[in-house]
Amino acid sequence: MVYDFVLALHIVAVLVAFGPVFAYPVALRAARVAGSGALATFHQGQVLLVRYATFAMVVVLGAGLYLALDRFSLGDPWISATFVVLFVLFGLYGAVLAPTERRAAELAGRDASAGAPSGEYDAAARRLSNVMSVAGLLVALAIVLMTVKPGA
Ligand code: HEM
Repeated sequence: MVYDFVLALHIVAVLVAFGPVFAYPVALRAARVAGSGALATFHQGQVLLVRYATFAMVVVLGAGLYLALDRFSLGDPWISATFVVLFVLFGLYGAVLAPTERRAAELAGRDASAGAPSGEYDAAARRLSNVMSVAGLLVALAIVLMTVKPGA
């Protein structure tokens, strides 16, 4: 019973932490169409979202540890591989995503008076799109590992 609730918590936290990754390209495109002012607001929102997402990743880890220790072993290949994936995601969020979102918000705010996004902003936005693509692939890999459990 407790196990099932912790599993549900684990999956909800996965949704909160990584759901925005998959909505990102559409949301960024919509903000771009709306103009630089909307882009600045969008990226400021993302800075906040990264904070929530990082907290949700800690919940994913905590609940995952409980589940793993209760019925499996941390040495199981599908669990240790997902550990690595999650830590790479922590690194991507903290070291690349958060600072690049902050920079993109600044640049879009500055460009709002010029009326169009600058080349510098475009470079930051490309970087963000690439990071989100890598994050999406890593999350998909983690879900395959968690559900297929290779080596179990
Ligand atoms: C990106 C990170 C992660 C994602 C996307 C993820 C996703 C999932 C999903 C979708 C399930 C449900 C699978 C099912 O019921 O068949 C699950 C279950 C589980 N996860 Fe994770 N997880 C992640 C990280 C972790 C970590 C780091 C651990 C271990 C410390 C962990 C341990 C577990 C365990 C033990 C289960 C229960 C499997 C079962 O009862 O069949 N997860 N996870």
